[in-house]
Amino acid sequence: MTKIPITTTVNGTVHTLEIAPHQTLLELLREGLGLTGTKCGCEIGECGACTVLLDGEPVNSCLVLAPQIDGRNVSTVEGLMRANATDPLQDAFMDHDAVHCGFCTPGMLMSARALLAEDAHPDEASIRTAISGNLCRCTGYVQIIEAIKHVKP
Ligand code: FES
Ligand code: FES
Repeated sequence: MTKIPITTTVNGTVHTLEIAPHQTLLELLREGLGLTGTKCGCEIGECGACTVLLDGEPVNSCLVLAPQIDGRNVSTVEGLMRANATDPLQDAFMDHDAVHCGFCTPGMLMSARALLAEDAHPDEASIRTAISGNLCRCTGYVQIIEAIKHVKP
């Protein structure tokens, strides 16, 4: 099969890759780059478990073809850590018991990170809208919303 050459930046690291044209970004991250923090739930754009940031915008990585990330910046949950320190958003999730089984957490964090990049003090309606594409099977929404509300700068 013909492979497509791409150059992409993932969590600040430049990767030059040859990929199958039908490969999804989710597959590339998990299987190609070993970034298994991004979760695979439905693979049809319904659950949000696979949410990553593409040029700062949240996307369902199961619906993005890997060739589409050529020349672009991808951020995953692994990229939230800086110098072995957790992101304040991750700290807030822990402080507010917003992680139960944890399957939705990486996607929730990335959707919330995108929101906080635009609005450091979002109201509850904005938070609910930002995570409306992220399903939590443990139904921990109250704690998740509280965590996002109380992120320390
Ligand atoms: S795995 Fe992508 S939205 Fe569910
Ligand atoms: S913490 Fe289990 S799915 Fe959200």
